[in-house]
Formats: sequence, C-alpha cells, structure tokens
Amino acid sequence: MTSALADARARERIQTDLGATLVVEAAAGTGKTTELVARIVALVRTGRTTLDRILSVTFTDLAAGEMKLRLRSELEEARAAATVEERDRLTAALERLEAAPIGTIHSFCADLLRERPVEARVDPVFEVAAGEEQDRLFDQAFDGWFQRVIASPLEGVRRLLRRKVRPGDTPPRELLRQAGRDLSEHRDFSGPWRREPFDREAGLEQQIARLAELGELAQRAQRPDDWAAQSIAGIARWVAELRRRESVRPRDGDGLEAELHELCRRRLWNWRGGGKWFARDLEKASVLAQRDAIKAELQAFLDRADADLAACLREELRPLSDAYEELKRGAGCLDFLDLLGRGISSATTPRSGRSSRNGSPMCWWTSSRTPIRCRPRSFS
Ligand SMILES: Nc1ncnc2c1ncn2[C@@H]1O[C@H](COP(=O)(O)OP(=O)(O)OP(=O)(O)O)[C@@H](O)[C@H]1O
Ligand SMILES: [Mg+2]
Repeated sequence: MTSALADARARERIQTDLGATLVVEAAAGTGKTTELVARIVALVRTGRTTLDRILSVTFTDLAAGEMKLRLRSELEEARAAATVEERDRLTAALERLEAAPIGTIHSFCADLLRERPVEARVDPVFEVAAGEEQDRLFDQAFDGWFQRVIASPLEGVRRLLRRKVRPGDTPPRELLRQAGRDLSEHRDFSGPWRREPFDREAGLEQQIARLAELGELAQRAQRPDDWAAQSIAGIARWVAELRRRESVRPRDGDGLEAELHELCRRRLWNWRGGGKWFARDLEKASVLAQRDAIKAELQAFLDRADADLAACLREELRPLSDAYEELKRGAGCLDFLDLLGRGISSATTPRSGRSSRNGSPMCWWTSSRTPIRCRPRSFS
C-alpha cells in the first residue's frame, strides 16, 4: 500500500482500528481480500483473538480457498518481523489454519443447522439440494402444478396462456415456470402483491373507441399508399375485424387483451412516410401526434393490465411453491435459500448461544464501489 492511494486512510483503518465494527465496500480487484487478510493477521498478531474465533464467509468455494492460501502466506510473512510473543501467536494460528472457520456462507449455515437440527426444525441428515438437484425438484413440482391448473385454469393463467407467441418470445408455459421459480427464490417475502382496482372491461372499451377514432382518419388519406396512411388503414382494419367478430359473438375479454398486446407490438406504429399533408386541411404531423398519443394510452392500459395479471398470478402460483417445499421435505433436502434463512435465524436465536459475539468486531465486505470505502457500523 502506498500513501498515494486515494483510499489509503480507509485501508489503514481496516488494519489498525481493530476494535471497531466496519462495513467495507469496494469494487472488484481493489484489494478487499488483501485488506481482510491483513486485518485477520493483525487481530491474531496483537493477541486480540485467535484464528478459530474469526468467522470468514465468502460466496464461492474458490474465494474461500484463495483466502486460506493468502492467509497462510501472510501469517508466515508476519512472523518474520514479529516479537517473540507475537511469533508464538502467529505460529499457533498457522498450525490451526486448516480448521479455521473460513468457508462459504452456505457451508457455514449448513454447519450451524447440522449442529442444531432440532432448534432449526430440519431433518438432522438433510442433504443440500444445489444446482441440478434443485432444478430437478422444482421442475417436478412445476410439471405437477401445471397439469393441475391446465385442467381448469384460474384467471391469471387463463389470461397469460392467450398471449400470442412470436418467434424468439418466451412461451407462456416457460414464463410461468420462470415466475414460479423467481417467487420460490423470494419466498421469504411471502405477502400478497397489491392488486389495485382495475376495470378491465371499461379499459378495453375505451381503447377500442380510441383506436376506432384514429382508424376513421384512414378514409380521408389523400395518398393511400403513403406509409402514414397505410399505418392508419392497418389500425382501421384491425378495428373493423374486431367489430365483425363481435357482431356475431360476445366480447372475449382475455382474447382482446392478448390481441391488443399483439397490436401494440406491430411495426405500423412507426410508419411515417413523406410529405406535409395527410388529407386536405389535415397535416400529417397532427395525425402522427394523435397516433403516438393513442399508442401511449394503449401501452399504459396494457401495463396496468400486466400489473393486475402479475398480482393475480402471484396468488395462483402459491401452490407451486408449496409443492416444491413438500418435495424438498420428502427428499430430506434444503436448498440454498433454506440454508441461508434457517441457518441465519438459528445463529441469531438466543438459545443457540451464537447470538453473542462477545463484543468482537465484525467486518462485512461487499463489492460495489471503487475505491475502498469503510465506515463504522453498529449491530444491535
Ligand atoms: N494497496 C495495494 N497496493 C497495490 N496492490 C494491491 C494493493 N492491495 C491489493 N493489491 C493487489 O491487487 C490485486 C487484487 O487484490 P485483491 O485480490 O485483494 O482484490 P479483491 O478486491 O479481493 O479482488 P476480487 O474482487 O477479485 O475478490 C492483487 O494482486 C493484490 O496484490
Ligand atoms: Mg477478493
């Protein structure tokens, strides 16, 4: 470290202010691991604590392995310039390095749960369902759920399945699977989503009226082959087709919602053509401005419909999360979120005996900004 570094003071504080609890933020490659290792070496060298009492958690096995290697070489290096007393402490740390609690957050939580399965209410011989096993259990839950709902879909699924799929779009079934997966990954936020009052029927009626109003301009176009005229004519044809269908059978609200989505994505909204006049006494700029405003209204309506649909689907997908939980329970598995949620709550329950940190400082390291920033933090 040189004093020329903009974050030199933060770095120095990390290595010397050993009684403080610090939050350290820094971007990738700025020296977080270097500073963390230096702080651990300083804690051990000065006799503030011993290595077995310092918990170091990382997100990946790779980072944990790297940390152990770097700690070994820094502990060895520190011995060279140490007093006799310090040297003994550093030597003891080196001897116990392999047993030091340095690992991933998930393995730490799994260790806690294995230590106290009864308090944490987990199967004492639980397995960790990571990666492919987690995917397999979730897909099994999803397939069962989908077969059940498809037999008589509720409102949200029904609306989503009507959506027209273009090449390159995610098909509705896959959208449902992804949504179910996301919700399951956030199952610790289990509250219902707010479903604002939304009068879909009135909204649909209003959008059709606005589109019809725009479409009426088509017959006034002085050059029907002009792109702007063709754009308006396309909208007029869409309205005429809808009216023809609705003259022989009642309105299909779900189908119409899906069709409006499709209409809104069509290229015709961007066609402009050339020339100043759209019709006699009607400037093209005014027609295009009207078209843009109607497109914006339509998009806003569809966004509200989507928000309504999302809140609706959130409830319909709950049984999927339940089915996934049930499958995991049956298989004696915990996934990463279980490990984190249950492990952390077991670590902080008073009975666990781990809630007290005996006044020892904690460091939290996250990667976000550059350069290194550190600030004190108190944990209650
Ligand atoms: N103060 C410093 N002066 C010069 N080089 C440094 C300093 N601190 C760290 N380095 C060097 O910068 C490189 C990255 O350091 P380090 O691995 O500690 O960063 P990191 O923030 O942990 O990176 P990552 O985001 O990849 O985990 C290493 O080669 C390290 O030796
Ligand atoms: Mg690092």
